[in-house]
Amino acid sequence: FHVVHITAEMAPCAKVGGLGDVVTGLARACLGRGHNVEIMLPFYECLPEGVVEGLKLEREFDCPKGATRHGQFSLNALRTQVWTGRIEGCPVLLIRPDWNQTNLFRGGRIYGGSYNEAEAYLYFSRACLEYLRLSGRRPDVVHVHEWQASAVPMIFWDGPPGFSKDMPSTRVVMTIHNMDSSGECRQDEFAATGVSGELFATTDKALDERTIGHNPERLCLLKGGIVYSNAVTTVSPNYAAETLHGGAAGWLKSTLAMPGVAVKYSGVLNGIDTTFWDPSTDPSLPACFTPQQQEGKALCKRFLQEGLGLSVDPKKPLVAVVSRLVPQKGIHLIEHAVHRTVELGGQFVVLGTGHADGGLRGLATGQFRDNPDVQMRFMYSEELAHQIYAAADVLLVPSMFEPCGLTQMIALRYGTVPVVRSTGGLADTVKDVDNYQGEELRNGYVFDGIDANSLNSALDRALRAYKEKPEEWKELRGRIMADAMRFSWDTTAGTYVNLYGQVLSM
Ligand code: ADP
Ligand code: GLC
Repeated sequence: FHVVHITAEMAPCAKVGGLGDVVTGLARACLGRGHNVEIMLPFYECLPEGVVEGLKLEREFDCPKGATRHGQFSLNALRTQVWTGRIEGCPVLLIRPDWNQTNLFRGGRIYGGSYNEAEAYLYFSRACLEYLRLSGRRPDVVHVHEWQASAVPMIFWDGPPGFSKDMPSTRVVMTIHNMDSSGECRQDEFAATGVSGELFATTDKALDERTIGHNPERLCLLKGGIVYSNAVTTVSPNYAAETLHGGAAGWLKSTLAMPGVAVKYSGVLNGIDTTFWDPSTDPSLPACFTPQQQEGKALCKRFLQEGLGLSVDPKKPLVAVVSRLVPQKGIHLIEHAVHRTVELGGQFVVLGTGHADGGLRGLATGQFRDNPDVQMRFMYSEELAHQIYAAADVLLVPSMFEPCGLTQMIALRYGTVPVVRSTGGLADTVKDVDNYQGEELRNGYVFDGIDANSLNSALDRALRAYKEKPEEWKELRGRIMADAMRFSWDTTAGTYVNLYGQVLSM
């Protein structure tokens, strides 16, 4: 198939969280299966120089872009460049607006710049479709991700630009990685796509379903994407069920449950890129290791203890968190776990960034400031992340909700035993060593509640097992490492390929 991904993130150079990993991992796996895959991404000013191999200017065009003032829609254009090249072996098409006319996508980071994000991604969505048409591309599947690309199916299937007439055999697949961000914008802001937002507030197809949000003046882009895509996936079967039957999707639940939507909605478990995350070859590590030869892991632990300034002790269980520090991730439980781990004679490492880091920073500069068993780094570092996954004994993921979660799968690959809260994709991928009765490998420790005692019920068992049964722990480590190949995109990409086949036969 010819698949074009439209996305706001791509690992490793334009990545904030798992979205970037998923796009690159899935694309590489599909390329490996012989499909033709391209990734369309904004040309962020903050893309590090030199990351795009063979970067070259492919085309310049005037991208239609509108504005609505006092209820009047008017159409303008924004000069747009498309640059091509390769990132991590994947062909990329980078959309760059003329920075003499606009500051969209400028600044030192991917999100949270000084421009209007809704405007930026609405323009980006239109520019991607415009370029596909101009360049004569007729992809089988346009695969869009998150609210940032949700306007793509809306304007592809509906409205004046007529993309679906020019690309009659193209189908749109949408993947929702997190329903917490639904991409709300004012109706008039939608004009940045060059299409009036009024169209989507008043046409009768799914009026109720589409009047989007609780306020008719606003559009919910994620909802538009859900209604208009040929197939909609989210990133684990359990999260799909939680969004349909529980509260995880908020008010979008009623959209997902609409008869026309429920049939095209499914949960497809994410994979990990097992080449990028490979303890037997990882260039960020001081020593490599495999399920059969685990000695290198002890060297990685020592290297990290020394590097971060922890006391060097091979016997202390090392618990780690690698995470965006936002409420989703269960920050209060991470804070509690720092205390608990130290009480039980372990060490604790945090690597993370995010607006909810206050309490942890307080611990790092206060009570645990001179404690040789606690170290926190409030930064983003791919290299340190690799070193932590390799060095740690336990990875803690106590999320309040988690659409899939990749860090627990990466940890498994590095023989680091996950302790997770039973939610979303965490429940699909981690099965409790003491309590799980089903078919899959028991590979970690799981708790249910959102209180400290619940967390203790899993963390305590893990730390006790580490200390009291070292032989069993070593065996567990080898088993989970070997079994982690089950989460490789090489295996799981097949589900997406089947889905592409299904939408093309519609
Ligand atoms: P989410 O997408 O919600 O952030 P995931 O578990 O799906 O959660 O993916 C997180 C990804 O981001 C993983 O690859 C993880 O290693 C990485 N990551 C998170 N925080 C950092 C950080 N501070 N430095 C480096 N990598 C990080
Ligand atoms: C989101 C989710 C995370 C998921 C990732 C990749 O950011 O929070 O659970 O693993 O997307 O799909």
